[in-house]
Amino acid sequence: MKSVVCINGGTATDSYNKLLTRYIASRYSTTIEWSEPDIMALPLILANGDNNQSVAVTDFLKTVASADAVVIATPEYNNATTAGIKNALDWCSFAPYPLSDKPTLLMGASTGTLGTVRAQQNVREILQSAMLSPRLVNPPEILLGHANTKFDDQGNLMDHQTLSLIDEAMHKLIQMIEV
Ligand SMILES: Cc1cc2nc3c(=O)[nH]c(=O)nc-3n(C[C@H](O)[C@H](O)[C@H](O)COP(=O)(O)O)c2cc1C
Repeated sequence: MKSVVCINGGTATDSYNKLLTRYIASRYSTTIEWSEPDIMALPLILANGDNNQSVAVTDFLKTVASADAVVIATPEYNNATTAGIKNALDWCSFAPYPLSDKPTLLMGASTGTLGTVRAQQNVREILQSAMLSPRLVNPPEILLGHANTKFDDQGNLMDHQTLSLIDEAMHKLIQMIEV
């Protein structure tokens, strides 16, 4: 089993990003141990050096550091990623740099037409920081637009084109772990 930690920016209990990653976690449950820490439990980062104290932060950083790979699922808020994702990534930007060189897959779901393309571009820029610098799966891009129309009542993803891109991306992510 490979371990994947998912940094998910969805905040609602009926979040489409959470629905998406729950579906992927279940689809890959025989090969991947999936964990999805609550990033909203992380305090806002402070720039005064008084960091790394809370259990939520140390647990989160340990989970990221020990995972074989990372999935980042971002909603799009006003053409960007969410404050929660940005804060979680900022927490990862201190030594021992848990995201550095980590196989990482970016995805996102939104109710808009463009399916988080701007939020994902924003996350890509953030990840270019020397303190973060994961190894990103690229391509394919996983952009789930009109997410409110893409799941059945059981939470199955009904968009077969996106599903085949997800399978391609997950295959690449698993290969990256093994290199
Ligand atoms: C503050 C705010 C700003 C939003 N801005 C965008 C946007 O720029 N582009 C977009 O496609 N959807 C936007 N949306 C709609 C989100 O795509 C939608 O709420 C989506 O369901 C959020 O993901 P989630 O269900 O995983 O929480 C916005 C929603 C909120 C609450």
